[in-house]
Amino acid sequence: MSYLETTRNVYKEAAESPSIGLCCTTTPIWQLPGLNIPVKMQQMNYGCGSTVHPRDLINNPKVLYVGVGGGMELLQFAYFSRQKDGVIGIDIVDEMLIACKENFVEAERLNPWFSSDFVEVKKGDALHLPVADCSIDVAAQNCLFNIFKQEELKQALQEMYRVLKPRGRLVMSDPTCEVEMPETLREDERLRALCLSGSLPLWEYIMMITDVGFGTVEIRAKRPYRILDPKNYDTDKLIYVESVEVCAIKDPMPADGPCVFTGKTAIYYGNEASFDDKKGHILLSNQPLAVCDKTAAALASLNREDIFISGSTWFYDGGGCC
Ligand SMILES: C[S@@+](CC[C@H](N)C(=O)[O-])C[C@H]1O[C@@H](n2cnc3c(N)ncnc32)[C@H](O)[C@@H]1O
Repeated sequence: MSYLETTRNVYKEAAESPSIGLCCTTTPIWQLPGLNIPVKMQQMNYGCGSTVHPRDLINNPKVLYVGVGGGMELLQFAYFSRQKDGVIGIDIVDEMLIACKENFVEAERLNPWFSSDFVEVKKGDALHLPVADCSIDVAAQNCLFNIFKQEELKQALQEMYRVLKPRGRLVMSDPTCEVEMPETLREDERLRALCLSGSLPLWEYIMMITDVGFGTVEIRAKRPYRILDPKNYDTDKLIYVESVEVCAIKDPMPADGPCVFTGKTAIYYGNEASFDDKKGHILLSNQPLAVCDKTAAALASLNREDIFISGSTWFYDGGGCC
């Protein structure tokens, strides 16, 4: 049996007998005015973090969500789009598609603004999306891509890139891990399917994203996720796993490489009203400017005593330099 088949079986089981906390952090569930999330949908929250960000959802975007789970994030996306087929949900596991649709019926009962036909739920594989090229404004996945091994991860990212319109956004939440994962854990198909042992170090994850062509990447959040300890797992050291929320934008790739925003800020505090690096960045006196890591490095290399560059906050929320 391949690990992809094991994954399908794990989520068939998870659809038939919801298992609270199967694969999610304890991050509180996004509550919004007038949004009532059915209990079963909450129990089937098999994600980490959130991929639903209101600032991505202006101008009536067409949303694609891959790996539906109990449908909670689809409902949250529908909350913003509120139109027939405004959101497409894709999953490879029949039982998960059925459970998700059932949850939408309950969601309709609890939310007068919601209609099940706001979400088109379709069977499909993240590795071969049944979606037309350049047709999606916002594509999202939560806690699915970390399960994929390198080759499949590349293919899944290429698929998301293919279906996004130019400047479209890929919003993802996944575990990452800076400690080297023992091979026995990496190859444990069930642990991988449960989002515990497939995660990459954050920079490798970012490189996979930029290698398929995304010109801009934003790290929006980073938080503790799990500990794999020697008492409970086949490891002789403690493995600390985090989860990240990332947005990758299908911008043209800059000639000098991608812009990756990790939450760095530059502040000019010299004697002039502003500082102009003549490369498109104007720093107003004592006004923080969010900068990508490339710009942060270029400004730091000027060795000026009147420019402060902050560290990465891993909490980038827009307004950046590029
Ligand atoms: C970890 S769960 C995450 C569910 C949901 N995103 C959430 O946050 O609750 C992974 C989801 O991906 C689905 N899945 C697994 N393999 C898939 C594949 N190759 N293509 C599409 N969906 C897949 C599973 O059925 C499950 O719904």
